[in-house]
Amino acid sequence: MQALYDYDSYRIKAIELLEVESIKARRRADELDDGVAQIINSDFFEYRENHPGEQFDVVIGNPPFIRYQNFPEEHRTRAILMMQSLGLQPNKLTNIWVPFLVISASLLTENGKLAMVIPAELFQVKYAAETRVFLSNFFERITIVTFKRLVFSDIQQEVVLLLCEKEVQENRGIRVVELEDMEALSSLDLAAIHQLETKDLAHDSEKWTKYFMETEEINLLRSVREDKRIALAKVIMDTNVGLVTGRNDFFMIDAKTADKWGIREYTRPVASRSNHFKGIVFNSSDLEANIVNQLDCFLFLPPDVDFDQLPPVCQEYIRYGEEQEFNLGYKCRIRKRWYITPSVYIPDGFALRQVGDYPKIIINKTNASSTDTIHRVRFKTSLAPELIEVSFLNSLTFAFSEITGRSYGGGVLTFEPTEIGELPLPLLLPGTDINFAAIDNLIRERRITEVLDIVDEALLIRQLSYSIRDVNKMRSIWEKLSSRRQNRK
Ligand SMILES: C[S@@+](CC[C@H](N)C(=O)[O-])C[C@H]1O[C@@H](n2cnc3c(N)ncnc32)[C@H](O)[C@@H]1O
Repeated sequence: MQALYDYDSYRIKAIELLEVESIKARRRADELDDGVAQIINSDFFEYRENHPGEQFDVVIGNPPFIRYQNFPEEHRTRAILMMQSLGLQPNKLTNIWVPFLVISASLLTENGKLAMVIPAELFQVKYAAETRVFLSNFFERITIVTFKRLVFSDIQQEVVLLLCEKEVQENRGIRVVELEDMEALSSLDLAAIHQLETKDLAHDSEKWTKYFMETEEINLLRSVREDKRIALAKVIMDTNVGLVTGRNDFFMIDAKTADKWGIREYTRPVASRSNHFKGIVFNSSDLEANIVNQLDCFLFLPPDVDFDQLPPVCQEYIRYGEEQEFNLGYKCRIRKRWYITPSVYIPDGFALRQVGDYPKIIINKTNASSTDTIHRVRFKTSLAPELIEVSFLNSLTFAFSEITGRSYGGGVLTFEPTEIGELPLPLLLPGTDINFAAIDNLIRERRITEVLDIVDEALLIRQLSYSIRDVNKMRSIWEKLSSRRQNRK
């Protein structure tokens, strides 16, 4: 900012909706300039509408991050119409930083440059797919500055600085600069940034997480994607959400609570958190251990009959729930009988929805189901489930998991069922010499590196003939992306 004020020939226009904020900006500008900045107290989109054709050499912005529904109707309508006139189709999930960004871009002169504070979800969310395509077509060079530590700890949202240039003479493409924290910005070596390799911008809607990789790494994963021998997980299994109780603290209970109310015989075993699974198999002794440890393993599920016909112990527990008004919550209210949780089926396996270290599939050897914190899996092939879940634990699938899943700060990687389905999953051939019980034990002891060594060797090197060098590269991609994510707490 200081640099802009250093040129007093600059004419700066700043637009801010709230009067109090615009007064702050005015004060700040007064400290720096001698009247070159004009602070306008207005809706940005309305200002734009009233000043068609006005262009700028540089746009700098720190837009609000607000979901579409929460943005005031009149500003939203204008913003959406303007985006449509640029050929974009925003939907209900669009966050309001999107129109601020693309409309600002459209205000630039031929050699214009743009700098904005943007949530890092630009890299990965579906609603920004169209924006990624727009930016990659509109700008010749994009530089993204990311921070290893969260910049605004109070909003718990990872942000990046997005720097875009319309016309450049060299180094076209995209590059990512990773800094430790905000302080590192002041000592940023601009000359060094110009030496950084720019990667070709793919003009498609793919996630940008891949640009954290070197060109060689991107190319390796692209070639793996084209390897016809490797199917996506969805070919082998269906992944669906877990059951929705509508009120976990009423429906999901531990053994003590079930016994206190005398309702244990009216419950079903259900896994409700990732920590219910220790290994890659969930068997009756795991379930028993969870019960003994007083985890919330039981779903209250009385007979599906009218209240009057229910056993008295169930009536009593339901009455307690009604006293707490749990029956009035939306999910419960819309049911025929609020206390009957639907869709309590027993899956072949589970897939974690949120992972800290790495994704995994867990075979279900019990009669347990899961709540919607854990996805339910049904295998579609006659292959032994053990073969599928061990196959999952390889460096290639892990590398892709970091690109396919999403992380919003906090270190956790989240998968929707469709995203589990999109993971490339090479499969061990039946008869491969692998000791499943030994792998399960290693996982329980959290010795994932040893597991990867075993599965990579059998599956990627011996069976699929990938070179040791390529497999090491897949491993290092996974390690790099996952430690980058986990450090962002
Ligand atoms: C992330 S804050 C940035 C505040 C300050 N300019 C800064 O950089 O520290 C986003 C600002 O955008 C303003 N804002 C929200 N909607 C707006 C709109 N439709 N037009 C102009 N400004 C808006 C908010 O009032 C808020 O001050």
